[in-house]
Amino acid sequence: MTTLTVGTGSANAALLGVGAYRPSALVPNDDLVEAIDSSDEWIQQRSGIRTRRFAGPEETVVSMSVAAAREALEHAGIAATQVDAVVVATVSHLVQTPSAATAIAHALGADHPAAFDISAACAGFCHGIALANDMVRGGSARHVLVIGVEKLSDITDPTDRGTAFIFADGAGAVVVGQSGHPGIGPVVWGSDGEHYDHIRTPDLRDLVAAGDLRLPCLSMKGSEVFRWASYAMAKVAQQAVDRAGITVDDLDCFIPHQANNRITDAMARAIRLPASVRIARDIVDAGNTSAASVPLALHRMIEDGDARSGDIALLIAFGAGLSYAAQVVTVP
Ligand SMILES: CC(C)(COP(=O)(O)OP(=O)(O)OC[C@H]1O[C@@H](n2cnc3c(N)ncnc32)[C@H](O)[C@@H]1OP(=O)(O)O)[C@@H](O)C(=O)NCCC(=O)NCCS
Repeated sequence: MTTLTVGTGSANAALLGVGAYRPSALVPNDDLVEAIDSSDEWIQQRSGIRTRRFAGPEETVVSMSVAAAREALEHAGIAATQVDAVVVATVSHLVQTPSAATAIAHALGADHPAAFDISAACAGFCHGIALANDMVRGGSARHVLVIGVEKLSDITDPTDRGTAFIFADGAGAVVVGQSGHPGIGPVVWGSDGEHYDHIRTPDLRDLVAAGDLRLPCLSMKGSEVFRWASYAMAKVAQQAVDRAGITVDDLDCFIPHQANNRITDAMARAIRLPASVRIARDIVDAGNTSAASVPLALHRMIEDGDARSGDIALLIAFGAGLSYAAQVVTVP
């Protein structure tokens, strides 16, 4: 029998660099409350959000990704031409095909890398890290750029009380590459498609049939999502810690999807996170940026000195699908 040569990669992969792009327009709660009969106090109490950023017309899914990716490459000390694959997690690249990833790769000056988008909503970035880890270890890429990016202001109804104050815009990126040490733990990921309708956009065919020419906006069953995230996701977080062969006492940072500070608190309590573990609270000034929220929060913690190179961080992200993914990583 003819034997094929199989690819061999590095024994270990790690995050090598992080970058972020935050849109220039800062939007405080007071700018949104009139349209949803709400108040700054209610929003802060229920979600933790004080302000968020909305992208302007020049700040696109592609341009924000390119800016975040450039910073991540510089931090990693990697040239764009050394990138073998660009993986973009997003739900707000409003072109059915082609992917945002090919345009981003071209704009970066990468040398014909594999480039594709993944659709796993708020969990997309952690899915991307898992794929990149396996690609580097399996030998199909040496350096993978993983980007989480959203321009959710395009697909959020400013009059919807359940979503208008939550969703926001931004981009975060990491470079995943070969490493002398294991820098990315095993992923714990999955889906709960029974709740397919909990967070979603409408079927475009229904909008067209109804003569509705608006962009398809997100809708969410907030209380149901809240309960699911607070309880089921704590178990997933604990499994990711277990599978990395550590305990919560070994963690330095907890960087969950920035969905709601109360969900973060519930998860931290459920896994008995020691008080010494620093917790990402980027949501306060960034809102919920879906696929971008974990890399933006990681970037913020590094910038603020709350996450230092070599620290052990637990990442977890969850959202529409419902889908989820978690892993333990070493901070670059
Ligand atoms: C959206 C969310 C903050 C709403 O909080 P909640 O406590 O579940 O709110 P409810 O929908 O149960 O409504 C509670 C009360 O607040 C009111 N309310 C709802 N939205 C409001 C708003 N924007 N402003 C003011 N009051 C509001 C309701 O009318 C209700 O009033 P009542 O008690 O007099 O009937 C919360 O459900 C949530 O955070 N869900 C998860 C969101 C999330 O993480 N999404 C992303 C996952 S990827």
